[in-house]
Amino acid sequence: MKIAPSPVTLGTSGLGRGTEPGSPEEQAAVDSAVALFESAHTYVDTSNNYSEGRSEAVLGLALQRVGADAEPHVVTKVDEDPETRAFDRDRVLRSFEESCARLGVDTLPLLHFHDPYAVTVSEAMAPGGAVEGLIELRDAGVVGAIGIATYPIDEMTEYIGTGVFDAVLSHNCFTLVDRSATPLFEDARARGMTVFNAAPFGSGILAKGSAAASTYAYREPSAELLGRVVKMEEVCAAHGVPLAAVALHFSLRSPLVDSTVVGIKTERRLHELNELMAIEIPDEIWVSIEEIQATAI
Ligand SMILES: NC(=O)c1ccc[n+]([C@@H]2O[C@H](COP(=O)([O-])OP(=O)(O)OC[C@H]3O[C@@H](n4cnc5c(N)ncnc54)[C@H](OP(=O)(O)O)[C@@H]3O)[C@@H](O)[C@H]2O)c1
Repeated sequence: MKIAPSPVTLGTSGLGRGTEPGSPEEQAAVDSAVALFESAHTYVDTSNNYSEGRSEAVLGLALQRVGADAEPHVVTKVDEDPETRAFDRDRVLRSFEESCARLGVDTLPLLHFHDPYAVTVSEAMAPGGAVEGLIELRDAGVVGAIGIATYPIDEMTEYIGTGVFDAVLSHNCFTLVDRSATPLFEDARARGMTVFNAAPFGSGILAKGSAAASTYAYREPSAELLGRVVKMEEVCAAHGVPLAAVALHFSLRSPLVDSTVVGIKTERRLHELNELMAIEIPDEIWVSIEEIQATAI
């Protein structure tokens, strides 16, 4: 099934992290989640294992408050068994049930196969494998569409080559400083799949700036990559636009991307996101950005 997300999807991998059930911190996270559901963005993206299940739990509490109309706006992912690392058909069905219980929903518009590092593509595709479970859920109509959300790119290319997935989600690989997901997205496009591009800020540095954030894609960046970020910051400063706006619009303007998944866990960040979306980026910036990116080694 083809799904139709809005240009931005709200990512909640950090939502509710470390909060105790019933605590004021949980309540604050629920308040933020209510704002996410009440925003104009179609989907809120979570996963069975985000914040050890607390992301889904908080979203479930928010859904109780917002009402059933918001239920079709939550997208989650199935994860391996955290104890045994099993990731077969039965684990997929259990993971889906756990997510539905936390979220308080019976159906989902989209369910991703998340980071299947515990199994090979052949194991996942074999009878009794994880993908069989995903297809069963879609055939039963409790899931509208199924996606593959992982890394690295070559494994994702293998998964989308099977022809069974409706959507693909890649992270940190289609940004100002990394274009490695381009062939994957072109392939997915040609197959009529929905493309989600997650982590347009490289998980922070392209929003917070090179002086404040020290990682790209959850790792220490090379000096060479950091050098390109600094040069891009200088270009943005010369034009009076924030690097974060350019990083976001790089993904928003791409014809390869249906929806950009941005990590947002507070109402303040949600407002900032909407402000960044409204900024007009001068055309000359894209020329300078591409010149800097062309020096990547
Ligand atoms: N395998 C997968 O399926 C997979 C992998 C990665 C990501 N994802 C999805 O994609 C989402 C986004 O990924 P991500 O959160 O890692 O990366 P991201 O969206 O590139 O970056 C999020 C980071 O940017 C910061 N940020 C956001 N808006 C900002 C602003 N206006 N000013 C300054 N900093 C700002 C946030 O900081 P604060 O923490 O300070 O708010 C947060 O740490 C995840 O939440 C998840 O839903 C999926």
